[in-house]
Amino acid sequence: MNRTTIVTLRDKKKAGEKIAMLTAYDYPTAKILDESGVDIVLVGDSCGNVVMGRADTLSVTMDEMVHHTRMAALAVNSAMVVADMPFLSYQISPQEALRNAGRLIAEAGAQAVKLEGPVDKFGDSISAILRAGIPVMGHLGLTPQSVNAFGGYKVQGRTVDARVRLKQEARDLEEAGCFAIVLECIPADLATEITEAASIPIIGIGAGARCDGQVLVLHDILGWGTTTFCKTFGDAKSVIAQACSNYVSEVKSGVFPAKEHEFE
Ligand code: KIV
Repeated sequence: MNRTTIVTLRDKKKAGEKIAMLTAYDYPTAKILDESGVDIVLVGDSCGNVVMGRADTLSVTMDEMVHHTRMAALAVNSAMVVADMPFLSYQISPQEALRNAGRLIAEAGAQAVKLEGPVDKFGDSISAILRAGIPVMGHLGLTPQSVNAFGGYKVQGRTVDARVRLKQEARDLEEAGCFAIVLECIPADLATEITEAASIPIIGIGAGARCDGQVLVLHDILGWGTTTFCKTFGDAKSVIAQACSNYVSEVKSGVFPAKEHEFE
């Protein structure tokens, strides 16, 4: 099967074909995503909140991202695997940014990296990574690694100034060579304007229906999340909880294991 690439993603935008992206942090989940036809598997630093029980993404380390990306990448044959660059992996210097992006590709098996923030802050790091032949996905709007600077998880781009700034930042990321941009938690009409102006795919999360694609955190669509703009597409949480309590009661009552589960 052909793998999704930066070229096929751009072709999808041109053809008006929507792009579907979901997060995965391990092998079995990434395999399900790949087989379900997602275009991009994102190994997000949201693993910090979602599977590590932390309050935010800020303490996620490079080693943890390499670990999760390697597990997910091994399972994926057709989607593009994009790995998040965690906090402080690209902010310190372009050299560190390149070394860390390189680990996500060479050690972990991702095809591209994603980093949060505009060109006027991280343009040098983006250029260094791109020069090494590593595709970069940008991320603007509510960028969770800046939660403390924002004073909380708040919708961005609500004022006239903020709208102008976000549109400029998206143009800058495209000019810098990013192959796609995630827009998180911004008004839908602003996301539409950015999407229409860009020639690279714009992937929204809480950014309305008219982006070129959508990304969500897998656990949110499975009934584990609390995100308001998210929709529950299946209640995996209840299915797992029911299976676990069935197991506990069968072990305690002696129903499991039965004869057919024993070795001769
Ligand atoms: O870390 C993540 O999962 C993300 C998505 C929410 C876009 O960056």
